[in-house]
This record gives sequence, structure tokens and C-alpha cells, in this order.
Amino acid sequence: EMELAFYFLLVVTAVSGCGVPNYQPKSSRVVNGEEARPYSWPWQVSLESFFPTCGGTLIAPDWVLTAAHCITFHTYKVVLAEHDMTKEEGPEQSIMVKKMFIHPKWDDNCVSCGNDIALLKLETSAVISDKVQPACLPPHGATLAHNQPCYVTGWGRLYSGGPKATTLQQALLPVVDHSVCNQSDWWGSSAKTTMVCAGGESKSACHGDSGGPLNCKNRDGRWYVEGVTSFVDGRGCNTPQKPTMFTRVASFIPWISETMARN
Ligand SMILES: *[C@@H]1O[C@H](CO)[C@@H](O)[C@H](O)[C@H]1NC(C)=O
Repeated sequence: EMELAFYFLLVVTAVSGCGVPNYQPKSSRVVNGEEARPYSWPWQVSLESFFPTCGGTLIAPDWVLTAAHCITFHTYKVVLAEHDMTKEEGPEQSIMVKKMFIHPKWDDNCVSCGNDIALLKLETSAVISDKVQPACLPPHGATLAHNQPCYVTGWGRLYSGGPKATTLQQALLPVVDHSVCNQSDWWGSSAKTTMVCAGGESKSACHGDSGGPLNCKNRDGRWYVEGVTSFVDGRGCNTPQKPTMFTRVASFIPWISETMARN
């Protein structure tokens, strides 16, 4: 009996290993973003060098996904279970980054060329808890539906020129299909199939942080990190027909798997 119970526990743990927050995210449709319920995006990471620089996503206890353009210094740490940046609230976990892997095809001088993705191997594994959990990775090649409601999260500006947030923010960003996003009055040829466009209509919301996740809930009820926040239009994040651009995680699954397996 003990053995059976133990086996059952293991199976349950494996199945619920990603993308299921203990604290339910708010599902409201506030246009310009709002404060997230604390710890409802338990894979959200603050990437910090001398100061917070970017967001990131915990995808395994010792791996964080972020944007390549975020990596400009030699030394980084990540902070997990962060909510209010100005306060020590108790559950924060601060872990040094041991090694950084920037996508080999990333070009610093051409963000619209794509491949804006990097993996960070942590010095020690995060302690998985009710406030710290990895997001699920989508299968290779998985596509998102036009208008699929996803959320961007981060401590970045809520609207162009606005102040940076001190508490974690979330904003609903519907996915814009590639066949719309690549039209000349939208992003044109800057929109690659290895990117996800989201937002940019009249009800557009602003971005969170570079490197942070585009969180999409799948039919299986789990949250997947479908995008890594990459760039916005120079005129600002609320520009009509200029959605926020994300690196499409589903396009980089082979690189992610190989990098994690070899390191
Ligand atoms: C836009 O993308 C679609 C596929 O999503 C493609 O068929 C079409 O040729 C592209 N248009 C341009 C202008 O690149």
C-alpha cells in the first residue's frame, strides 16, 4: 500500500510539474495592464546585474529562458518569487547565473532578424514551492490561434513614457496571426515566422519587460511560455498595428533541448 501511494505521488508530481500556479492569475481584461496577484506567475524571474535589467522565465529548476539582447554584462543573478521590487517580502530566492547561452544566430545589430533568445544555467537549483514553479514549454512547431488571449508579465513600463512598475504587472495581449502581422501596414517583413506578435490593436496593452514571458493557457489548463519579449515599435508600445514582438519559443525547442541536455 505504501508503495502504491508513493508511486501515485510520483506520477502526480510529474504531470503537475509545470504551468499550474498555486495562486490563480487574475483573468480580467484590463486594457493597460494591472498589478498581478502576488506569486500567480511563479515562473516569472527578475534578471539582475547591478540593478534589475530584464525579465525571464523559469523552465526547469536550474534553467531560465530570456532574451539574447538582455545579456550585456558578465555577471547576473535571477530573483524568483519576487513581487514588490522595493521590499524584502520573504519568499524571494536569489540565485547566481552560472553560465549563459546566447543563441548562435543572434545578431546584436539586428533585433528584427530574430533569434533573440538565451538560456541561463543557474548556480544552484531553485527550490520549487507554491511560489516558484517552472512554466511549460510548448511542443516544437506549435502554433497559436489569432486572438488567442495571452498575458505579458513584468516590471517594465505599463505604457510608453510611463514609470517602471515596482510590483509585477500583467496585461492581456491577444495574439496577432503572422499573416496579419506581416502585412505592410503592420510589421511587414520584420515579422518572422519565428516570432509571435501580440497586442497592437486599439485595445493594445504595453509590454512588461524584455526577456519576460508571453504566457498562454493551453486547453490542458496549463500555462506555456509561448514567447520571450523581444521588441516594440520605436514610437511606443501602444502604437496601433505595431504589436509587441516576441521570440516564438515553439520555434526554438530543438536548440533549447540540446542546450539543456549538454550542459
Ligand atoms: C505573410 O505571411 C503569410 C503566411 O503567414 C505568407 O503566405 C505571405 O506571403 C506573407 N506576406 C508577405 C508580404 O510576406
